Amino acid sequence: MTGVTLSRWTMSYFAAALVALMAAEAMMAVGYGFPAAAIAAPETLILVHVVAIGWLSLLMCGALLQFLPVLVAQPLYSNALALPALVSLVVGLAALILAFLQLDGRIAPAVPFFAIAAALLIAGFAFVLWNLARTMAAAPTMPLPARFVVVGLAGVTFTVVLGATFALVLGGTVDYGPLVALTTAGLPIHVVAGLGGWLTFTAMGVSYRLLAMFMLAPELEGATTKAALLLGAAALGMAIAGGILAVLLGGNPSLALLAALAMGVLALALYGADVLHLYRARRRRNIELNSRMAAYALVSLAASVVLTLLLLAIRRLGDHAAAVVFLIAFGWLSGLGLAQLYKIVAFLTWLECYGPVLGKGPTPRVQDLVVENRAGKWFLLYFIAVWAGAAALLAGLPLAFRFAAALLLVATVGIVAQLVRTRRLADVKDAARLPQGARPPRLLLSCQP
Ligand code: HEM
Repeated sequence: MTGVTLSRWTMSYFAAALVALMAAEAMMAVGYGFPAAAIAAPETLILVHVVAIGWLSLLMCGALLQFLPVLVAQPLYSNALALPALVSLVVGLAALILAFLQLDGRIAPAVPFFAIAAALLIAGFAFVLWNLARTMAAAPTMPLPARFVVVGLAGVTFTVVLGATFALVLGGTVDYGPLVALTTAGLPIHVVAGLGGWLTFTAMGVSYRLLAMFMLAPELEGATTKAALLLGAAALGMAIAGGILAVLLGGNPSLALLAALAMGVLALALYGADVLHLYRARRRRNIELNSRMAAYALVSLAASVVLTLLLLAIRRLGDHAAAVVFLIAFGWLSGLGLAQLYKIVAFLTWLECYGPVLGKGPTPRVQDLVVENRAGKWFLLYFIAVWAGAAALLAGLPLAFRFAAALLLVATVGIVAQLVRTRRLADVKDAARLPQGARPPRLLLSCQP
């Protein structure tokens, strides 16, 4: 990553995201939301969106603001847009939570929180999309990982439009027939567009590049990667466009979703083969912690695909959808996110602090900012807790699930503590910490070296 410019607000996105992750884990540990409440209960909706918007979307937006310019070799269109986007997303999420509490009758319906949430979340995601789209439009090339991101951005657009539609209908702002029909039958499309299109597809694109970069493996631009992109995009098109059309024509989106699942599984199989190839073709013999932990996240993705197919075969997917969603959200997306954060925070901190003095004397290496042995234990605990939590959901053991969630929280706090230590240069030897001319980084903001 030579010639990288630092995205000023990315660390603030990461910090807000991690706070949301720990809040969601605490909610699960104390029994807030599913399985103690029904899957469609307002408590569960709150929990789901603290994870989906507060943790995963903020993490992804922060990472893309930093990383998309690297993918397409083009500076970010606007650093200034990143802050209003972050504020709109955080306040929009708060409004959505208040709106779900209104739905539950816990607060008075006087303020139209659903409409406020829809407006703010549309604005927040639009700022991010505009910034990223303008960056890509100005780029000389469009490598394959960036094309995955384009599909992911189409996914978030549909997720937000559908989510806003639900919000306006549930809040009573809109009662137009087709939009009410979408709210009644379109929930699986919203979920697939969000978890599959936005979060999974973008994570796939970014992981192609990050895994190659961190393991010193050749970039993949071949037939399997192109086929994964095309099949995945077709699957999402089928699920989203086909599903919406089916609902608007008065039908049921299940057929479109099943056809999409078949294509999606093929796309994921190709992606899996590509990733295995990256691990095998790497030139770095000793894989660093982030790439070792990414492997556990990839295993969780494979496990969630197998679980979905098994449950479909025995016609029990409806009963156990929560276990599948939990494994995708915490094993695959959060696991990959935390693993890559561990390296990205170290790399960006190193660049910010030591970039300006490189070549002017001895400086620490990126790996001197972290202690992998210590962090590895927290990551291991994290993945064990995720798998135990998924098993508890499958077995219908709510108390065991709460215990797993508590372990998940402990592990996450452990990982976050490592990230803070990295930011504070706490693990760099005293003598090497601040060579002349180097500035200590701030916790939540990056300054251009
Ligand atoms: C960004 C990624 C998002 C993901 C992954 C996501 C995921 C989900 C999931 C899994 C559910 C079903 C939860 C359950 O039944 O317990 C849901 C429902 C819902 N989502 Fe989202 N969501 C996202 C963004 C949004 C946004 C931006 C909005 C609002 C602007 C929104 C508004 C809603 C509403 C109102 C419902 C309830 C629908 C109903 O009960 O009829 N979502 N979402």
